Amino acid sequence: MTVVDGEYLKEIEGARRDLRALISSKNCAPIMLRLAWHDAGTYDAKTKTGGPNGSIRNEYNHEANRGLKIAIDLCEEVKARHHKISYADLYQLAGVVAVEVTGGPTIDFVPGRKDSTVACKEGRLPDATKGASHLRDVFYRMGLSEKDIVALSGGHTLGRAHHERSGFEGPWTKEPLKFDNSYFLELIKGDSEGLLKLPTDKALMNDPVFRSYVEFYAKDEDAFFRDYAASHKKLSELGFTHPLAMKNILAKIGVIAAVVILSYLYAINRIAN
Ligand code: HEM
Repeated sequence: MTVVDGEYLKEIEGARRDLRALISSKNCAPIMLRLAWHDAGTYDAKTKTGGPNGSIRNEYNHEANRGLKIAIDLCEEVKARHHKISYADLYQLAGVVAVEVTGGPTIDFVPGRKDSTVACKEGRLPDATKGASHLRDVFYRMGLSEKDIVALSGGHTLGRAHHERSGFEGPWTKEPLKFDNSYFLELIKGDSEGLLKLPTDKALMNDPVFRSYVEFYAKDEDAFFRDYAASHKKLSELGFTHPLAMKNILAKIGVIAAVVILSYLYAINRIAN
């Protein structure tokens, strides 16, 4: 059970500082972002299963997660110093910090996620060899939109593919440790530069709705940063009810119950008199 009290919030701030130092010194922002995304990206809105719940530590042997054990092990260093923090919060915090230390937008982070040890079935994350309708199927299942798909794909501004992990090779951009809108600029340029384009990246150019967002983000980096921060927050909170929101709901239920009981007592009192 994750109880978000003053002490927990202090641990989160400590972990944030440790993650900043770790990610900067090891240049591991890309794989940390991929870890956060793959923990969250299993969410199924219908069954309310999967999502950012730390279960990736039991899913790293899945085909789609090849290589992510490196990031899981790096996070253990931070977990050892801040053991109260749930894995689910730690991995999402690592994703947020990875974007920030590479120059990306600030992403609002709300702690309180619970851990699950139940591994999801394989096959919930997107398959890079497929097209636009597959992307829609996977992201709609999570409850995300077309705009979220394109904004989040901009996360490929960081990092690279490794042949032994995914069968693909190389970076998407010329500066894979800098978070900017160059993923979209490269997509628009086409194949000429020898940079990586997955079939799913190309699908963003071939689908008219996706393409209009690609063109928009290539022109306007501020708009990309704003939309990316909003979509990343959504992804990091799939299936998660904020502890404060929960408190507010409970407080409202308490008030309604009190009003019902008082009205009942008042009615009984009137009948008796
Ligand atoms: C839209 C569907 C997506 C597909 C099909 C996809 C596929 C892939 C593939 C095949 C790799 C290469 C893995 C390797 O060989 O090491 C990769 C890497 C990566 N992905 Fe995605 N991805 C998707 C969405 C996302 C999203 C939403 C994010 C983050 C918001 C993201 C962040 C990353 C990062 C940062 C890397 C580089 C990792 C590294 O350098 O080690 N991806 N992705």
